Amino acid sequence: MTRNETQTLETRLVQIGVGRDERTGAISFPIYPSATYRHPAVGQSTGYDYTRSGNPTRQVLEEGLAALEGGVRACVFASGMAALTTLFLHFSAGDHLIVSEDLYGGTYRVLDQVFAKLGLTASYVDTTRLEAIETAVTDGTRAILIETPGNPLLGVADIAAIAGLCRHHQLLFIVDNTFLTPVLQRPLELGADVVVHSATKYLGGHNDLCSGVLVARDPQLGERLYFLQNATGAVLPPQDCWLLIRSLKTLALRMERHCQSTGEVARWLQRHQRVTAVYYPGLEDHPGHELSQRQTRGFGGMLSFRVDSPELARAVLEKLRLISFAESLGGVESLMTLPAVQTHADIPEAERLRLGVCESLLRLSVGIESAADIIADLEQALG
Ligand SMILES: Cc1ncc(COP(=O)(O)O)c(C=O)c1O
Repeated sequence: MTRNETQTLETRLVQIGVGRDERTGAISFPIYPSATYRHPAVGQSTGYDYTRSGNPTRQVLEEGLAALEGGVRACVFASGMAALTTLFLHFSAGDHLIVSEDLYGGTYRVLDQVFAKLGLTASYVDTTRLEAIETAVTDGTRAILIETPGNPLLGVADIAAIAGLCRHHQLLFIVDNTFLTPVLQRPLELGADVVVHSATKYLGGHNDLCSGVLVARDPQLGERLYFLQNATGAVLPPQDCWLLIRSLKTLALRMERHCQSTGEVARWLQRHQRVTAVYYPGLEDHPGHELSQRQTRGFGGMLSFRVDSPELARAVLEKLRLISFAESLGGVESLMTLPAVQTHADIPEAERLRLGVCESLLRLSVGIESAADIIADLEQALG
């Protein structure tokens, strides 16, 4: 990518890797599968020694991602969970985290069933309410991790306000930006310290790649994350780095379509007799609508909706033809899931029900098929 700070995000996305392979001039940056590299002489390096520590294809991807998020350094991992796990290793026994309660179940699981045993504790709070966060801060609190919009109920947290709170209490501020991507939301510019992605979702965008990303706002933290990545080793292989670079080139176009279609589908669902609630920040009656308008460039491609019985929710999943009943989100293909029994199954039932993640709640990742076809499928499935 020819560095030009005046270029738009859309242009930077397309240009990732272009002009970087000076020897051949390749437009599509090559895959370097080599696990190791010859040293020119004792004590010298080409800049690459061993692929866990550094790989040319991964480097192009990481530099591209850091620039897109407005950070100084990105590290790319074998999955979103590998990225989060590596980030949690930054903390020590006795440290405490404040985490969004409307959160991907796997993040809850790794904190609750892996890191709790190592002495890292977490409180789950409604991070759409600043006072709830403030109340949860203890002497041991080291960081706040939010997902905004939340998962699966799409609650919207005020990134700039939470950043202020973190500065006041000297806490690290981590934002999982998986649902919106840097095309729609740039948390580092609003004061976050680290951005996390499951790149398996929109960044990859085609349901054919599993990967994760951490982006740091300052060099010291970037160096620490790189240290942890190299020390523990969950790097993304070069072939997948290339696939992710290829996918990123169409991210802006894809996000535009996701946003447009999701708005149409959400409004259609709101009018359906058997749908009792629709959760999408793009709807004027969503409690986070105005905040979203201020802090994002679009409302994204995810929505959840409640139908009038758990039986109907199960029947819808069985009747779907175009939309696939499958976990995950953010790909070009539309996917629907039942969070209570899939993505959020590891959250204790009482807690799930308190949050409203019951068996009548369906989550839809609206793909880039025509909105009319998606709506037609929902219409026949809702019967
Ligand atoms: C918001 C969010 N963060 C992190 C993850 C974990 O990512 P991965 O599945 O790539 O490990 C997911 C997965 O669904 C997610 O939805």
